[in-house]
Amino acid sequence: MKFFIDTADVTEIKLSRELGILDGVTTNPTLVSKTGKPYRQVLADVAKEADGLPVSAEVISVSYEGMLKEARELAKIRDNINIKVPLIEDGLRVVKILSHEGIKTNMTLCFNAIQALLAAKAGATYVSPFIGRLDDIGAEGMDVVEEILTIFEHYDFETEVIVASIRHHMHVKYAALSGAHIATIPYAVLRGLIEHNMTKTGIERFLSDYNKISG
Ligand code: E4P
Repeated sequence: MKFFIDTADVTEIKLSRELGILDGVTTNPTLVSKTGKPYRQVLADVAKEADGLPVSAEVISVSYEGMLKEARELAKIRDNINIKVPLIEDGLRVVKILSHEGIKTNMTLCFNAIQALLAAKAGATYVSPFIGRLDDIGAEGMDVVEEILTIFEHYDFETEVIVASIRHHMHVKYAALSGAHIATIPYAVLRGLIEHNMTKTGIERFLSDYNKISG
């Protein structure tokens, strides 16, 4: 499973890249707004820091013409940018055009398996089911991911599934067990994946035993 980081913070991208486990970045307008800087400037900085790894940059418009224009402009910022488009009717139309133009896309705000099927049929590079937000309303986010993967397998789609809206360690584990292509993970969750209390206490014990003989 590929690991993307869900952030617009260049320091978090740098630190995650240094871990040697990073395969890409997803951003959204909420994450960019946390930087307090202009939208496109942040996307340019993020794409530069990602150093060739794919970066999802989301359109703000929701009209067909607006999304298409914005998508083409965002795609020009840097080669590694793909365009995040909401899973709405005009979004599907936009993704169809962009895929013909060779611009990669990520259909976002996906909340069921049939929406994902439509994204794949329109030619999306990625589709992002938001599992945390589904869990928030009492649904089983991971069930949706499993349904999407089953459907994609039946019909041999190339669209990759990005498990998004990840809130904790177990979401990452379920994503990997399901065979999802990608999980996009907030930095705090990513860091937490490394830690285990027994690793920490194990190091302490080894060190204390070593100190007994080394004086
Ligand atoms: C995915 O690409 C989105 O940026 C993200 O995962 C949304 O997560 P949230 O539900 O925590 O806002």
